[in-house]
Order: sequence, then C-alpha cells, then structure tokens
Amino acid sequence: MYTKKINRRKWMRSAGLLTAGLAGAPSLFANTAAEEKTWYEGVRSWEQSLSFSPKMQNLKARLLANENPFGPSPLAKLAIMESVGMGNRYGHSEAAKLKEILAEKEGVSPEQIILGPGSTDILEKTAIVLFNQGGNIVSADPAYMSLIKTAQAFNAKWKSVACTADWSHDLDGMKKAVDQDTKMVYICNPNNPTGSLTDFNALYKFCSEVSEKVPVFVDEAYLEFLDPSEAKSMVKLVQEGKNVIIARTFSKIHGMAGLRLGYGIAQPAILEKIRSMVRTTMGLNVTSIMGAKASLKDYTFLENCRKWTAEARAFTFEKLTEMGYEPIPSYTSFILFPMEPGTDGKLFLSKMMENGVGVRFFSIHDQPYCRVSMGTMPEMAIFLEEFKKVVG
Ligand SMILES: Cc1ncc(COP(=O)(O)O)c(C=O)c1O
Repeated sequence: MYTKKINRRKWMRSAGLLTAGLAGAPSLFANTAAEEKTWYEGVRSWEQSLSFSPKMQNLKARLLANENPFGPSPLAKLAIMESVGMGNRYGHSEAAKLKEILAEKEGVSPEQIILGPGSTDILEKTAIVLFNQGGNIVSADPAYMSLIKTAQAFNAKWKSVACTADWSHDLDGMKKAVDQDTKMVYICNPNNPTGSLTDFNALYKFCSEVSEKVPVFVDEAYLEFLDPSEAKSMVKLVQEGKNVIIARTFSKIHGMAGLRLGYGIAQPAILEKIRSMVRTTMGLNVTSIMGAKASLKDYTFLENCRKWTAEARAFTFEKLTEMGYEPIPSYTSFILFPMEPGTDGKLFLSKMMENGVGVRFFSIHDQPYCRVSMGTMPEMAIFLEEFKKVVG
C-alpha cells in the first residue's frame, strides 16, 4: 500500500532515521516478528516509555492520544465546578439520571445502557465477561487493541483479518473467520489507527447476520466526527433486539478524556452478565457525570469541534500530500500515513519529542506509519514544521 511519490531515503539515512543495512524491512521490528508478537505488542513498551512520560507536559503539540484540544465544553466546565461539592456522596443516582438521558438520546431503554470511566472500561469488562474461558475474537488488522488485549490476557486467540485495500473492514473475510470457538467479533468504525470508515449498509448487514451467531461489539469512539448526515450508528441493531454492543465515549468529541466517562449500549441480558461479575458505577465520579450531562447539551461546542477538527484534518492532509506522503483518508480526529520503509520508529518518536511534538508510530504489516492527532491549527503547523525537520 506504500506508494510515496518522492524519495528522501538518502536524506533520512544521513539524518539517521533509517535503520542501517536494511533491505526494505524495518529491522527494529525484525525481532518482534520472529517472536510472533503483534505490531501492537512490538511497539507498546518502548513507545509508552517515550510517549507517556513526564516529557509530555512540555510538548508544544500533543498529538499522540487523539485528545480534543478544545474541550471540555464551557457548559461542562461550569457543571463540573458547580458539582465539586457533591463529591462527598457516591454518584449512583446521578449515574441513573445520565443513563436515562442517554437512553432517550439513543432510542433504547435505561436497562440497555452501561456507564464506565471511559469506554475502555466497557471494552475491558465486556472482554472479561466473554473471554474468561478463552475462545477467540475476530477483528480487523489493524484494530484498536484494548478489548483484544484483555481477551488475550485470558488466553483467547486473536483471529485478525487484514483490512481491504481501502482500509475498510474485510467483512466477508471476518464472517468466514467466525468459528465454533468465536466468542465475539470486534469492529471499530471509524477505525483506529487507520481513521478509515466501513460502509454503513454493508456493516449493518454484517452485524445483523453475524450477531445471530456471536455478539458483535461495535466501537464508535469517533462516530461524532462524521458529518451528522453520515454518522450512522449501529445502535439501530440494538433497538431491533440484536446481540450487538455499542461503545461510545466522552473522551473524543466531548473533549473529556481526562475526566473519564464512556458508555455502552446493548441488550439487558449481556449487561446483566457484566454486572453480575464486576461493579460498574463504582468507577464513576460525580463531577464527570455532571460535566457529561452538560456537554450533551452544548450543541454549539460539539458542532465547532467537528468543524475545527475537519479543518485541521483537511489542512494536514493537504500539506502531507504536498510533501509527497499519501495519508489514508480520515473520518476521525487523527490521520495515519505511511513513512519511508525502514524508518526507525523509536528514533523518529524521540526526535519528534525532543522537538516538542508527540505523535504515534505504528508498524503495520511491516510498513512504518505515523499517526498524528488533530490539534489546533497552530499545533498542526508546529507538527508539520518539526516533522519536516526530523524527516527532511
Ligand atoms: C477506538 C477507541 N475506542 C476506545 C478508546 C478509549 O477511550 P476512552 O477510554 O477514553 O473512552 C479509544 C481511545 O483512544 C479509541 O480510540
């Protein structure tokens, strides 16, 4: 899939970014492939030590975790400040109220809503409940790995199905991969780390059919960045009684990543199963609940975030293209683009970090990629300037 138009290989080697003596494959990952680790495991430990360190606090542009630079919304901030005094009480009744609000918004009943401190909580708890006896999980490759990692911790096998050439989910391939040991199919749409979107109608048909056999989990963390006319959720399937679980978050468009709130929408039976094994509302904090309630009503803020993210995306896409890169068309708050084959990811990230910019590096099917989150326009200009300095 890598067809970059210009070759700055020579420059990059002199800048020391390319691994020495390689014949196309990035040697940084040669060991991880030999050990049969996934791309995610291969990069995780050293990337975390680099990216999520105290150095992050001094970054000029923090573009590595798909955070929303504009949040939280003014109404959410006010509600949070006003609710600090409620902090001496557990927030169970406020959580129940938020569930009612979300149920109405999603066209389901409150029994079909589960809250968690971030959607990570929903992803992990679902994995605990469904995979504690092992089995396998079918998903795209690449995919967002949180749920898959938890499933693997219970010895579940990851049955990965490579994305199609346009980075959509290979729905036919995924359907074929489902077998008698499959406990769940995981879909992330729009997908992370690719930013790509799988066609709504095709996905709807897939989820409808496959959920007759196994639960289908659809992670919609970035859905709200789509134009409202195109932001079609799979929640319709939950309304129709299908065994589909949807995850949403307040971390992205609502700009509340550090406040930790997410929710799931599913059939009451599966949520009951989760509740029978793990506490759910105990991880929540009342200020975040009050902030989320206010944020849901801050339509101007949400619309602005969508608009500003789209502007930053178009600008960054264009500039990268001018530089000869071929970014993957993105429907999210980040862009993934292939880098020069053989790029030393560790070195690249540390050079970017030294220059005050945090991004992510992925090796996908032996091809190096950079993922940059959308920040403010000045942050995107800083990213482009520093990126140019680092890669030439
Ligand atoms: C696809 C996807 N799902 C879930 C999450 C988890 O988000 P949170 O736990 O902050 O809701 C993320 C975070 O980046 C994500 O990209």
